[in-house]
Amino acid sequence: MTPAYVYNDREIFELEKERLFSRAWLFVGHESEIPEPGDYVVRRVLEDSFILARGNDGEVRAMFNMCLHRGMQVCRAEMGNATHFRCPYHGWSYRNDGRIVGLPFHQEAYGGEAGFRRKGQALLPAPALDTYNGLIFVSLDPEAPPLREYLGDFTFFLDYYTKQSSGGIELRGPQRWRVKANWKIGVENFAGDMYHTPQTHTSVVEIGLFREPKAEKRKDGCTYWAGRGGGTTYKLPPGTLEERLRYVGYPDAMIARMKEMWSPEQQALIGDNGFMVSAASAFPNLSFVHNWPKVEDSDDVLPFISIRQWQPISEDETEVLSWFAVDKDAPEEFKALSYKAYLMCFGSSGMFEQDDVENWVSLTSTAGGSMARQLLLNNRMGILSDDTPVVPALAPEQFAGPGVARVGYGEYNQRFLMADWADHLERPAPVRPRVEVGTPD
Ligand code: FES
Ligand code: FE
Repeated sequence: MTPAYVYNDREIFELEKERLFSRAWLFVGHESEIPEPGDYVVRRVLEDSFILARGNDGEVRAMFNMCLHRGMQVCRAEMGNATHFRCPYHGWSYRNDGRIVGLPFHQEAYGGEAGFRRKGQALLPAPALDTYNGLIFVSLDPEAPPLREYLGDFTFFLDYYTKQSSGGIELRGPQRWRVKANWKIGVENFAGDMYHTPQTHTSVVEIGLFREPKAEKRKDGCTYWAGRGGGTTYKLPPGTLEERLRYVGYPDAMIARMKEMWSPEQQALIGDNGFMVSAASAFPNLSFVHNWPKVEDSDDVLPFISIRQWQPISEDETEVLSWFAVDKDAPEEFKALSYKAYLMCFGSSGMFEQDDVENWVSLTSTAGGSMARQLLLNNRMGILSDDTPVVPALAPEQFAGPGVARVGYGEYNQRFLMADWADHLERPAPVRPRVEVGTPD
């Protein structure tokens, strides 16, 4: 049971900032966004702004975007290429690896190195940074476990979205928009809410955007959870791996590369078991979508992949950062049509997006009232009692992936997410050392 007020409560949000977002690994961008030395993008972890830059040495860093002098934002642009960042306030300058290089009137104002030691001073690095398939994550906890350990077996599923060829993926975006909704609602929805699709997205089916009725596709699909994330799958019609990938619109050249990249188990999940990943979320606020609507006026479908980050602004507002992702080695025509399919479904004005957001805004505003404090929401779908599921977990020969998977509707993943959420909120915040700048030895 989830208390309704957790979807709109100032104190809960403060606790989430202090104990959850200060510890978890958080997605901030992809290496393909900053391919060349000097390339940078600016990304936030709640209120903290970070410059995500590739230094002249080729290394990717996340540097706290706050001048060591009086705290001005050093970089005001969203993205670009720079060898240096110069603070607009008094002109301190930093290399693209964060080291201080210039300090106006160093001798006159500070007495030179004796008064302010430049050597070894740099913009504060994010306490931890790690990557998986080019996805860049930071953690504000210097003691964070390695990213792979944190993600656990969810990486098995991440590969379908982010490793379709040795070239990896390339991203377009992010598109950004704000919704007056609590950040957890979207994460839960993408993690496993198959149940809303036939109702909320009825119109999308009625206008013929999909080859088969949504409810039909959904009822034989399964919900899985593995490691730090989970999602939903569609059940595809009978066929081989190649036939099934063709069925969702992938051209043969892409399919051949997928077979090279994916493990036998990853291939078996589609080829033998017939499950194709759809939406997913990784704790706490990273989500994925994979779908294959009809394109243009034809009966052909085309798959698209989208990555999104739910960036909390407050207890009742979330900024959505939404990227289109595509295999770097995909044919240009495929990339162009896939991008169109993404925009039509899950871009800022996408049909699914419009349907979903109305629910989430309404839910959030109601959760902020006094009556919501009485209500424990029902999230028991899929269980008869606390340890008796309605349907058994799939056996290994039915589901080649790791974790636990069950066919049909259920709120297993929403419960996994909220259990992890509660676990974080019950633990004290990690301690970070204070950093003093430039004081002489
Ligand atoms: Fe940046 Fe003074 S605040 S140079
Ligand atoms: Fe939806």
